[in-house]
Amino acid sequence: MKGIILAGGLGTRLHPLTKITNKHLLPIYGNPMIYYPIGTLINAGITDIMIVTGGNYAGDFLRLLGNGKEFGLRHINYTYQEGEGGIAAALALAEYFAEGEPICVVLGDNIIEKNIIRAVRDFEKQKKGAKILLKEVPDPERFGVAEIVKGKLVDIVEKPKKPRSNLAVIGIYMYDGRVFDIVKTLKPSDRGELEITDVNNAYVKEGTMAWDMLDGWWTDAGTFESLLRASILVSQTGANNVG
Ligand code: DAU
Repeated sequence: MKGIILAGGLGTRLHPLTKITNKHLLPIYGNPMIYYPIGTLINAGITDIMIVTGGNYAGDFLRLLGNGKEFGLRHINYTYQEGEGGIAAALALAEYFAEGEPICVVLGDNIIEKNIIRAVRDFEKQKKGAKILLKEVPDPERFGVAEIVKGKLVDIVEKPKKPRSNLAVIGIYMYDGRVFDIVKTLKPSDRGELEITDVNNAYVKEGTMAWDMLDGWWTDAGTFESLLRASILVSQTGANNVG
């Protein structure tokens, strides 16, 4: 399976920090943020990796990561997202890299404590469709929220005002090769972005979306609160990274 890390966008929620660098190069305890999603993929056995970057400081990814020798990689693939068209728009840029193979997509600001290798192996056995990971959170209105009825995933709502559950859809997604055709059917949401939740709901409607609960802690790091929380969590327990 190939891995794609989405590290585009402009990180405006973190101004002024992101006026002078890319959000994913900011420190999380002892490492730049981007080290953690790279570690998530490598520790799940995925070493064919593309990073989608963007903004004014994309060149700094090359200076920091090069071809990934420090992580035992032979090569890292890069591509560039202009503007901030949304997570699904960033994903679309990786179509030529994926070459129709199943992919594991990790949002560049998502950090996990443990390993997703079991979920990745399970998805490799799944013949078609997609798979997401869920985590109970105290503030589901900040995320995509899953509605589960009698053990079945029936809907995902992006940042609902009145969440139907406390199960956040974390930013690690596994897709079959059809995902890029689904992205091409999307229309921009009210916030003007192509939403990954719309991609996921296409698989939910088709009945081919698998889900699992994530083991260990998870956090995003795209707000001041979560950026601080990420550093505290990593300092306390370590994370699933390669630094
Ligand atoms: O963290 C998990 C959540 O991530 C999910 O629960 C939500 O369903 C999903 O929509 C997303 O929510 P956010 O609104 O918090 O995502 P954000 O805009 O912060 O983007 C997360 C990462 O995705 C960001 O660090 C880089 C990448 N991205 C985002 C945008 C908007 C891109 O590469 N390009 C983009 O245009």
